[in-house]
Amino acid sequence: MLNGAFIFMADLVRAIDMPVTMDFLAVSSYGNAQQSSGEVELLKDLRMPIAGRQVIIVEDIVDTGITLNYLLRLLEARQPTSLKVAALLSKPSRRKVEVPIHYLGFEIEDAFVYGYGLDRGQFDRNLPFITSQA
Ligand code: XMP
Ligand code: MG
Repeated sequence: MLNGAFIFMADLVRAIDMPVTMDFLAVSSYGNAQQSSGEVELLKDLRMPIAGRQVIIVEDIVDTGITLNYLLRLLEARQPTSLKVAALLSKPSRRKVEVPIHYLGFEIEDAFVYGYGLDRGQFDRNLPFITSQA
């Protein structure tokens, strides 16, 4: 999931010691705002079909769950053999839609975080760590 997950994905796949393919898609529920608008737009679709494939969605952060819920529905309709979710961060206190997270890095409190791929107004994705706004 672009853009936020690109650094996590890069580190994650280098820790996977089996044949995998990678593909990328982009959705936007935010624009440049820090609050979810509740509307999800598919900005870039996968290049490869996923029917009959074992798929893991890699997400930077699950907040309300609206984005991931949209994505799960979209990809489920393409009939992969399995569809799982790996998320670096989750803010469970913010959840509006229940979504499964099969592999989770860290549960965090409700604070806006950025760095390590996550942006603050599109900037700061290049920070080699994650931090929260003072
Ligand atoms: P929802 O609410 O749909 O949002 O689960 C998921 C997407 O929202 C972005 N998001 C954040 N981005 N710091 C960020 O840089 C945050 O604290 C944050 N919380 C949510 C992110 O793009 C995620 O994919
Ligand atoms: Mg973002």
